[in-house]
Amino acid sequence: PSLVSVGCPGTPTGGLLVSKMYDTAKDIVLNLVYLVEEYGFVLNGARSYYTNRSQPPLLSSMVLELYTATGDLGLVRRAFPSLLKEHSFWVSELHNVEIMDNHGRLHNLSRYQAMWNKPRPESATIDEELASKLNSTAAKEKLYHQIASAAESGWDFSSRWMSNSTDMTTLVTTFVIPVDLNTFICKMERDIAVFAELIGEKATAELFSQASKARHTAIESLLWNSEMEQWLDYWLPTDGNCQGPYKWESKSQNHNIFASNFVPLWLNAHNSGLGPFLDEAKSVRVMRSLQTSGLVCPAGIATSVSNTGQQWDFPNGWAPLQHLIAEGLLNSGSTEAKEFAEDIATRWVRTNYAAYKSSGAMHEKYDVEACGKSGGGGEYKPQTGFGWSNGVLLAFLEELGWSHDKEIGCPS
Ligand SMILES: *[C@@H]1O[C@H](CO)[C@@H](O)[C@H](O)[C@H]1NC(C)=O
Ligand SMILES: *[C@@H]1O[C@H](CO)[C@@H](O)[C@H](O)[C@H]1NC(C)=O
Ligand SMILES: *[C@@H]1O[C@H](CO)[C@@H](O)[C@H](O)[C@H]1NC(C)=O
Ligand SMILES: *[C@@H]1O[C@H](CO)[C@@H](O)[C@H](O)[C@H]1NC(C)=O
Repeated sequence: PSLVSVGCPGTPTGGLLVSKMYDTAKDIVLNLVYLVEEYGFVLNGARSYYTNRSQPPLLSSMVLELYTATGDLGLVRRAFPSLLKEHSFWVSELHNVEIMDNHGRLHNLSRYQAMWNKPRPESATIDEELASKLNSTAAKEKLYHQIASAAESGWDFSSRWMSNSTDMTTLVTTFVIPVDLNTFICKMERDIAVFAELIGEKATAELFSQASKARHTAIESLLWNSEMEQWLDYWLPTDGNCQGPYKWESKSQNHNIFASNFVPLWLNAHNSGLGPFLDEAKSVRVMRSLQTSGLVCPAGIATSVSNTGQQWDFPNGWAPLQHLIAEGLLNSGSTEAKEFAEDIATRWVRTNYAAYKSSGAMHEKYDVEACGKSGGGGEYKPQTGFGWSNGVLLAFLEELGWSHDKEIGCPS
């Protein structure tokens, strides 16, 4: 939940840019740049008790979007050292894991890992109650570490991080190599290469262009599943030290369906001049896989296909996931994928509007089973507001070019 307190991942500054609030967007970016200068990463929220966990790394995307909208090269120069610093955090020993593929080639990918093994300050009672099921102090500390790491991922909480989807004490977040995190870092590396080029740092540009390509190769070699035509999270053995090198095994890909399995499509959008990462034909195959995955529902894309009562699972749909996937499909080069993206965006706009009409508020999440229903589940009361829902709605309205005579309510 705390993702929203400082920004709006997915379309980080998207809603503000659509609203042409460039100064506000820049001030938000500068706040985040300050956090990196001070702490080495973008805190999970701008509060003193969040200094031990990050957000998913989307700051470079925010800088790029703002630069694209305003041409503000001063901002790029100002943010550049912080982006390098944030990058080094995400490839540091804390997050980096080395895995050897079937051909004996080594790859590096990253995972979430908070620097915390106590109850989360914002939810201490809940965490202590959960940990009371465990006997030893060591087991409790391990659980607290996994809980804080799931919070770092933004997906707090989800069966995605649990070895038993009905038992929260089985959270193993730090043993999962996430598809979306590595997509974000790959994008960050590409963005840094673009910025370095812009400010005349040729050697850094080359270095980060190579890093981005290497990570993309790693994503394709270790996370891609050619039978399912999706990218899958990779699970490390939970009894290991989690550094590697590990030998890749197909059974360690998590075959369960999550919206994050489709997030690499997003690399199609914001193609910062370094060439496409996916070709059109592959994007279309991934789209077909999404269409038959069970995730596509009347009011948008569900987070997973299992209803566990966790908020990052079925039947909840979250704005940033709709947007990451729709933007990827929209920019794939395929007309069919573009139409499908518009279909997803239309469903999302309609459910946002209908829920707003009936409740008077925007919501943090929506129940995608029916148009006009807000979401539920999870450990806290559903929030209204809401930064990323507002941002994605505005971005979709702009991207769709919604005309005034087009019906905006739920389809009858
Ligand atoms: C948590 O963060 C603070 C501030 O950055 C740091 O001083 C402290 O060592 C961290 N705690 C752990 C357990 O890493
Ligand atoms: C992976 O990361 C480690 C530690 O930073 C580094 O020594 C190694 O060269 C990297 N391997 C590859 C294939 O990039
Ligand atoms: C906790 O301790 C009890 C009694 O010693 C034991 O039976 C049980 O298996 C332990 N539970 C766990 C999760 O270790
Ligand atoms: C999963 O956890 C539930 C308790 O929530 C338990 O009843 C069930 O046996 C567990 N499943 C496995 C496969 O361990």
